[in-house]
Amino acid sequence: MGEAPLWRYWGPRLPDGVTPGAALRDTRPEPSFALHFDQPLSIFPGVGLGWFGQSALLAHRGGGDWAQAITDCRVEPVGTDTLRFHLTDAAAQVAAIITARLDPATDTLTLSTTLTNSGDGIVDVSWLAAGNVPLPPDADAVRSWAGRHNSEFVAVDDTLTRSTWRRENRRGLTSHDCFPGAVVTCADGTAYGVQLAWSGNHLQQIEWIDDGTRQWQMGEWLAPGEVRLNPGEAITTPDMLATVSAEGANGVAWAFHRAIRARMTWPGDAMRPRPVHLNTWEGFYFDHDLSALKELADAAATVGIERFVLDDGWFGGKAKGRDDDTSSLGDWAVDFRKYPDGLAPLADHVVGLGMEFGLWVEPEMINPDSDLYRAHPDWALHIDGRPLLGARNQLVLDMGRADVRDYLFTAIAGHLDSLPISYLKWDHNRDLTHAGRTPQFRAQVLGAYALMARLRSAYPAVEIEACAGGGGRIDAGIIAHTHRFWTSDCIDAISRVSIQRGFLQFMPPEVMGSHVGACPAHSTGRMQSMPFRAGVALPGHFGVELDLRQLNAIETADLTATIARYKTLRDRLHGTRVWQGEAGDSVVWQAHGDSAALLLLVTRIAPTTQRHLPHLRLPMVDPTRSYRFAREGAAPIELDGAWAARVGLPLPPMRGEEVLIVEVTAL
Ligand code: GLA
Repeated sequence: MGEAPLWRYWGPRLPDGVTPGAALRDTRPEPSFALHFDQPLSIFPGVGLGWFGQSALLAHRGGGDWAQAITDCRVEPVGTDTLRFHLTDAAAQVAAIITARLDPATDTLTLSTTLTNSGDGIVDVSWLAAGNVPLPPDADAVRSWAGRHNSEFVAVDDTLTRSTWRRENRRGLTSHDCFPGAVVTCADGTAYGVQLAWSGNHLQQIEWIDDGTRQWQMGEWLAPGEVRLNPGEAITTPDMLATVSAEGANGVAWAFHRAIRARMTWPGDAMRPRPVHLNTWEGFYFDHDLSALKELADAAATVGIERFVLDDGWFGGKAKGRDDDTSSLGDWAVDFRKYPDGLAPLADHVVGLGMEFGLWVEPEMINPDSDLYRAHPDWALHIDGRPLLGARNQLVLDMGRADVRDYLFTAIAGHLDSLPISYLKWDHNRDLTHAGRTPQFRAQVLGAYALMARLRSAYPAVEIEACAGGGGRIDAGIIAHTHRFWTSDCIDAISRVSIQRGFLQFMPPEVMGSHVGACPAHSTGRMQSMPFRAGVALPGHFGVELDLRQLNAIETADLTATIARYKTLRDRLHGTRVWQGEAGDSVVWQAHGDSAALLLLVTRIAPTTQRHLPHLRLPMVDPTRSYRFAREGAAPIELDGAWAARVGLPLPPMRGEEVLIVEVTAL
């Protein structure tokens, strides 16, 4: 075959045996003012030789060989669900391998591309799509997610037109600002989703093409000069995960949840029930006092906490400890002023109470005010002749350097060897600048992955939480090395409702760190009741982040009851299917389970404005069965599934901020 394969169909599964009919070109008479050679969308669109849209590759060899079109294709089946397309451009002397795995267990198509310089001279690459997928002509809306620190997953709805739609991130890590994924919906209710398994720069674009369809490309955003392939050298893109569902955005989420679960590796090869966390950050910040922390641990054990995570503030160097965010990142020794006998007295106390002990680290960072920086200023990313740009008073270590990674491994391993630590919260509190004289954004990502992988392999029982000022590094790449995301530094329960809804479009609930914070919320100053804060946090990987000693008796009792309830429900909240929806009148809902048994969480985020409340329609129930709907403190009601799906469940009056938990059981 002398060209790259053409895309014919990407959509909901067609019945077995359906064929595409005539060859595509035979269905497309030559239009006026057109090349005689018809070039429809291929899986590797070229440039300069008859394809006029966005190409999968932008590259040149010393200013030449920029025009690219595939001259040969070999298709290699791998197992039952993967095809490897070996594409060659004999003229430009580059070769691409596109790996396409259509996994029936997750309904996800995973695409990646390896580009090899098969000629002489360096090939400069400025764009290499991980993959592209076609969208049908009735794809008319795209939802993506923007945001900032303390406000992740802000949904942005755009209409698809003939103009190219494009989102890109150049912050060097996944970013709070632009989640690497989106969902496209069609007039007929079909939804398409993509996400990139990468914790760095990224780019996606949706482009209208001449037959009224569109192509959706996704890949890593490359800085000028970032990828220069020597003869024989190759680069492989991150994976692009794509899915499509006739069940809309909820079907896309279901595919992605299964795909993320399949990418994860757990200690012992299976997820344990997600333990209830206590995180010390918002309760204590940098103010570590051993006896107060022991009291906190006692209180934590009493309310049912199972894992105690000591956050920022425990470490320091010879001259100085970490009393605020101006110093000590990089100096990973215990601060003996705060912990005269090291961390063992606290860790042993926590473990003695039956809880796991976890520790916060921020390995990729360095404060200029640190012993490490004084010894190795060259280890921080910098460009000679350019001023350093601080953020939170810190700089970024050059993770491309093996000596930096070795130093960090040894520093962290020292604590893992000497203390009963089973959990690391791994932070990353700034965007990247100065990524080398020649840009090394991808080296940063690969260096961080390598360090995580090395620690995981040396300490296989340790779980890792991915955090970057909250949700700045939430993606399908880092989840292969980690077990939880810190979803946001904003623990305000009202803010969390929309943040968590965006998160759950791409990631399953068991990796969604969701904490009960203090009242008023530190990030917003808003006040919410304990039952509401606890109810909003309940469906994720539940935790508490406040000074338990300051709760009154009623709050403590409410929190204790929610923790006990979480423990009875977590097997049904996690690892199962999730649906989300809106009932109107400030009511949103999510349901976990299957059509035989569901846990339905109904959340009101503002007081009603209606005399009579809307009914809540449940699209997932089986229309041929009847259901019982039961909640605490009320008599159960029974409804036919078809009625619950079409007309809906009547809702009781709810307070302005309230979460109801309804057990839905098929009869
Ligand atoms: C980031 C994290 C917080 C906390 C602080 C510590 O902001 O998101 O949870 O760990 O760093 O400095």
